[in-house]
Amino acid sequence: MRKTLPAHGLDRATVDAALASMKADDAPWRQGRTPAYMFGATPEAEDVVKHAYMAFFSENALGAKRAFPSLRRMEQDVVDMALGLFNAPDEACGNMTTGGTESILLAVKTCRDWTRANRPVHGRPNIVAPLSLHPAFDKAADLMDLEIRRVDLRPDYRADARAMDAAIDGSTMMIVGSAPCFPHGVIDPIAELGAIAEARDLWLHVDACVGGYLAPFVRRAGYPIPDFDFSVPGVRSMSADLHKFGWAAKPASTVFYRSEAYREHQKFDHAEWSSGRFITETLVGTRPGGAVAAAWALLNHLGEDGYTEIAGRLMRMTKAYIADIAAIDGLEIVGSPDISVISYRARDLDILAVGERMSAKGWLVNATRLPPALHMMMSLLHEDARETYVADLRAAVAAVRQAGTAATMTATY
Ligand SMILES: Cc1ncc(COP(=O)(O)O)c(C=O)c1O
Repeated sequence: MRKTLPAHGLDRATVDAALASMKADDAPWRQGRTPAYMFGATPEAEDVVKHAYMAFFSENALGAKRAFPSLRRMEQDVVDMALGLFNAPDEACGNMTTGGTESILLAVKTCRDWTRANRPVHGRPNIVAPLSLHPAFDKAADLMDLEIRRVDLRPDYRADARAMDAAIDGSTMMIVGSAPCFPHGVIDPIAELGAIAEARDLWLHVDACVGGYLAPFVRRAGYPIPDFDFSVPGVRSMSADLHKFGWAAKPASTVFYRSEAYREHQKFDHAEWSSGRFITETLVGTRPGGAVAAAWALLNHLGEDGYTEIAGRLMRMTKAYIADIAAIDGLEIVGSPDISVISYRARDLDILAVGERMSAKGWLVNATRLPPALHMMMSLLHEDARETYVADLRAAVAAVRQAGTAATMTATY
């Protein structure tokens, strides 16, 4: 039945109790039982983020230029700090946005408009991308009537630069790589894609929504990370999410361009409105000031040392999960994940049937389609859950082996 607005308002205690009771049905993410959606570092970092968010809870970042110089300054500081992190040249620039999808929509739109003005292509423009690329690009293509050409991956699940090169034609406006891709957690060979982009004068975007704010610190913590940012000369734009492994509040992401000459095509400027000229640098209008303040506060509070310490702890935890999972008879890790996004498959049984048994034990399960595998995006929220997770997984594998069940679940995100 359709819910109606109460004729008389409920008192606060009743509203609070209703909220708490609805929350009780949610996935227990604080116990590390969600494989996505939630990202946690330390309780102290969470506290800093919440405090800053509440301090700017009411402010609207749409008015950053005219009403809230505080937010404007914070956004610029966040962008500047990130440009340093991503080895960007002095003339590079960027914006804060409300999420990976917005950053990607903007980068695609900016590339499309820059291409129209500077390097027109024949017919309907296309984007050449690895199969593992996030569907936010398909959403962008759908909205802007572009074509996405997905190219099969190498056997190690990274983008196949040579096959992508072969898929490029006179209508190609952009090529893309991920750092890392969502399904397998591996960073694409951005240097190889950069060489193609330079040779063919094409726009290379790096989708670092997942790894942008983690990979640099994983490297500082002593783990190998291939070059994936503006240190690769062919990279013209990047997306990187603060609200994932940057540990900031939702909604917060960033989009960057190698130069202002590219970003110029991002802006929306409409002069004919009865209310006057309307200009926005990014896609959405009203934006929460709290998310801007939270990102600024956390970047400043953690600094390089703080982020590196968290990254080191997270990688040690991930390696322990990987070792435990690989030690279960019949299971193997897919590829060689570069950060804490991993997936594992089974050599001789139905991994999705294992997933169903894990789900029955109270774990929210994510799967990948190609190859069939179970998938986890892990943060420090997963630290304490490891022993229970691995014990349940071992039992689930044994049960599937014995019963020989085939799954009914499919990989749906
Ligand atoms: C690689 C990658 N890019 C982009 C996105 C989209 O980010 P958002 O959900 O913040 O819009 C995601 C989300 O998981 C992702 O994994």
